Amino acid sequence: MKLPTISIAALALSSTASAWGFLGHKTVALLASRYFLPETAVFVQTYLYRGQSILDAAVWADRYAHIPLGRYSKTWHYIDAQDDPPNVCEVNYKRDCGGEGTGCIVSALVNMTARIQDDSLPWPQRAQALRFILHFLGDIHQPLHTEHKAYGGNRIKVLFHGSETNLHSIWDSRIIESARGKPTERTIIALANDLQERIEDGVYKDDVVGWRGCLNTTDAEECALVWASGANRYICDYVLNYNGGKLDGEELGGEYADGAVPIIEKSIAQGGVRLAGWLNMLVVGRDGFDESDYGKKAGGVLEGVRVGIEEVDREIEREIEESERKFEGLRVQN
Ligand SMILES: *[C@@H]1O[C@H](CO)[C@@H](O)[C@H](O)[C@H]1NC(C)=O
Ligand SMILES: *[C@@H]1O[C@H](CO)[C@@H](O)[C@H](O)[C@H]1NC(C)=O
Repeated sequence: MKLPTISIAALALSSTASAWGFLGHKTVALLASRYFLPETAVFVQTYLYRGQSILDAAVWADRYAHIPLGRYSKTWHYIDAQDDPPNVCEVNYKRDCGGEGTGCIVSALVNMTARIQDDSLPWPQRAQALRFILHFLGDIHQPLHTEHKAYGGNRIKVLFHGSETNLHSIWDSRIIESARGKPTERTIIALANDLQERIEDGVYKDDVVGWRGCLNTTDAEECALVWASGANRYICDYVLNYNGGKLDGEELGGEYADGAVPIIEKSIAQGGVRLAGWLNMLVVGRDGFDESDYGKKAGGVLEGVRVGIEEVDREIEREIEESERKFEGLRVQN
């Protein structure tokens, strides 16, 4: 598996913090784009808003969930496993996916996987489905997005290098940012490069076969559950099983964060590989990982992205306003 490393030095990214963190989400998207088959790259480009990068598209869903129109999609970013960590960790679709009309990340992935393939849907809705998929393939690999306890760790108050925060937040962004830096063009590319190297020639190489194990887009529910269960396993193995489970009020910026970094980096790599495979399957019907020419067109996805930070932000604002208007009437509940 040899891939060209894309240089996108002129790529400018916004750096506001958000769930799984911009660093996590944007690295998942960038890494994935390097494994797109050419047809997938073209497809993705077609369904992105003009001038928007795949990296910004990957964080759109967080913005959308926080405007009134998109609030219905808030529960789609996680699945609340009502298990018993650190003793028992397991995701159970029936029990954990939320009540009627709400849904969770698993049902949302099923829905969006169907919608992105539905030719009868207007373009903006398929574009929206793509952006949800770009985002959810990230979130489903964040362990605390697969756990109900303490609201996914939001209610566990901790210290991180002296500042008060909560466990969920440090897993979303603080730990990875303290290891790799704030999400900027430079740090996102550097992280993607490192993970790509580990995937192709390094410590993840043997794992990738397993990561590709479930990419059957006609059975999105099963695959999404496999991914969520993998992330959930870390809850018992590490996330809530440190210091005998006593995390409340603890300083977690030291040894705990050091132990978490490899888990987070591997999770981001998994997200990137599976996102690429998922979209390749959807568009071409093959996951593309055994093909020597994959990645060639990936640079194309990122063309037209060379805009300044403010322009990206304005683009997102415009788009949010636009979707407010366009998707009026699509609200399902709340
Ligand atoms: C699927 O997504 C659409 C658009 O966001 C939404 O209107 C619909 O209710 C969803 N269906 C399910 C079953 O979640
Ligand atoms: C994919 O899932 C569908 C539906 O469950 C099943 O019929 C099909 O055999 C699966 N394909 C592969 C390659 O596993």
